[in-house]
Amino acid sequence: MNQMPAKYIIRLCSTPACHKTYRGEDFIRIVAEELGIKPRETSADGRFRLEIADCMGMCFHAPSMMVNEERYQDLTADKARQVLRQLKSA
Ligand code: FES
Repeated sequence: MNQMPAKYIIRLCSTPACHKTYRGEDFIRIVAEELGIKPRETSADGRFRLEIADCMGMCFHAPSMMVNEERYQDLTADKARQVLRQLKSA
């Protein structure tokens, strides 16, 4: 794990109102586990980096996630995992 840039930059919001909304689960933890990296890390293969933002302007559609410039809103844990698994298999 390192600080290198990656093919896919995953961005999540850090505010509790945004990342604790899905059944009280920690959305950052869910995404980090799926990627196998911690926040602010890049995967060993250089494909994924997880960044944490203060606000991404999608407060009313939490949990939300950005993958590079693409926005995913009103996510569930399962929807987020599905998006990430599609990227992994691409
Ligand atoms: S405070 Fe989380 S997206 Fe705005």
